[in-house]
Amino acid sequence: MGDQATPPAPELAAMAINDGPCLKHPFSDRAPVRLIVCRPDGGAGLAGQRVRAGGWVKTGREQGKGSFAFLEVNDGSCPANLQVIVDAGVADLSTLVQTGTCVLVEGLLKVPPEGTKQKIELRVDKVLHVGPTDPASYPIPKTKLSLEFLRDHIHLRPRTNTISAVARIRNALAFATHSFFQEHGFLYVHTPIITTSDCEGAGEMFQATTLISEAEKLDKELILNPPPTEADIEAAKCTVGEKSSVVAQLKAAKATKEDISASVSDLKKAKENLSRVEERAKLKPGIPKKDGKIDYGQDFFGRQAFLTVSGQLQVETYACAVSSVYTFGPTFRAEHSHTSRHLAEFWMVEPEIAFADLQDDMNCAEAYVKYMCQWLLNKCFDDMELMAKLYDKGCIDRLRMVSSTPFERITYTEAVQLLEEAVRGGKEFEKNVEWGIDLASEHERYLTEDIFKKPVIVYNYPKGIKAFYMRLNDDSKTVAAMDILVPKVGELIGGSQREERYEVIQQRIAEMGLPLEPYEWYLDLRRYGTVKHCGFGLGFERMILFATGIDNIRDVIPFPRYPGRADL
Ligand code: 4AD
Ligand code: MG
Repeated sequence: MGDQATPPAPELAAMAINDGPCLKHPFSDRAPVRLIVCRPDGGAGLAGQRVRAGGWVKTGREQGKGSFAFLEVNDGSCPANLQVIVDAGVADLSTLVQTGTCVLVEGLLKVPPEGTKQKIELRVDKVLHVGPTDPASYPIPKTKLSLEFLRDHIHLRPRTNTISAVARIRNALAFATHSFFQEHGFLYVHTPIITTSDCEGAGEMFQATTLISEAEKLDKELILNPPPTEADIEAAKCTVGEKSSVVAQLKAAKATKEDISASVSDLKKAKENLSRVEERAKLKPGIPKKDGKIDYGQDFFGRQAFLTVSGQLQVETYACAVSSVYTFGPTFRAEHSHTSRHLAEFWMVEPEIAFADLQDDMNCAEAYVKYMCQWLLNKCFDDMELMAKLYDKGCIDRLRMVSSTPFERITYTEAVQLLEEAVRGGKEFEKNVEWGIDLASEHERYLTEDIFKKPVIVYNYPKGIKAFYMRLNDDSKTVAAMDILVPKVGELIGGSQREERYEVIQQRIAEMGLPLEPYEWYLDLRRYGTVKHCGFGLGFERMILFATGIDNIRDVIPFPRYPGRADL
């Protein structure tokens, strides 16, 4: 193993080893279950091979009056379990059979008797590790658990079939994202998490500050060591006075050099003490203020800073230099939305293309969504089958449909007309439909789920409901914005052509009542070498909801953050 002469192996290759197991993970002392059971023959062709496998027991049962045990072992490398058979002589079966127990076992692969579901099973002759689980306290027992329940056990939920499948689907979609943009010549740019610009101008930002923790630290310190009083300062001043008269007297009396320099040194110490006392006297508990307002000049960055709501503005600086770019990272919104479609921390994929307009933007977004759907069909079919079985029986057909059918494209005005027609036909919405409204989720879902039954791109929105950076259309009423609406989710993507005309964008910022100063650098992109460009943002968790059919966005991100909750 680890032999220099070994030819470069594929990511997870079967490797021949002298006298040990012959299937092996490249960086771990066992064979991933996937390599055994996820073969077209279900593993049957491996019969007779020696294998070491590890994982967590999903279910276990003792058989033959306790003479052996069946274990279903899963290591998360695929949805399927490996069936493991252990004889009583090899290990303590009562520990092994508990759900949640970790085992590392070695033995021979054998074809099970006729009539069993499995195509291969592992007959264990060596148990190398047991990580026991106390069934009385293990929070994730074998019974079917609701996703809501699992949210209260966020650290153990990856052990479940659903959450591990979602993790693999999420991983595949991230890989597909990079693959799509890299194949199309886009550069991956890391935009900052901490920002001093508000991209969406919606004021829903989390603040990044050390003022509060610094104030708390100081408050504590001042309780332990109270600040000097007026009397303390007076006393320190007196000491300085006294020490300086001693120096004067010694000099007048022509004392020895040694005596004079000793007294000068005393005086220096007294002066240092006075300035320390005066400095400490200035310390005030609480958050520093200036002119009645919080003094951000004293904050970590010397100014107010936030967690980003979008990497768009920053990624535009790279688009306007290296042409085709994308950013993919976490974004944060402090909106108090208790919905199944909103998170306070979510991941966004944001491409930005120079020399491209709204049509190009829509074409790119549509191609990207289709690519992801096809990718899941090609690479995650077994996980998708699990989703179809447990959550949404139509999810595989939906992926097929989306990857092969052109998206509908309609203007906002047409969308409103269709909704108004629906209302005339008796459809009831909670929010009134009229030109100028921000489409609500119920409207978006009606368009995509009921009217078109496929993804819909709505474009040319009223300028009043969209961000300042979107390009003003010739009608002066609408902007070159586009949203992609998909069944199950509603808005999956929001994007636009950007306003590249300096005068127009300056006016739009003013119109929206935003201050110009923080956007001066953004305006520079228009002042110097401006270019037609566009981009969009895809909510990564919404894509997972759409693909899997899972209902709540809190179940498709490993560590969900939403109002009132930020576990771990
Ligand atoms: O439409 P949004 O707000 O667009 C932007 O942020 C642009 N700056 C993107 C760009 O043009 N580069 O957000 C983009 C997408 C939405 O369509 C939605 O899918 C998702 O991000 N999203 C959320 N996902 C989960 N939780 C939230 N709170 C979300 N807010 C937006
Ligand atoms: Mg949007």
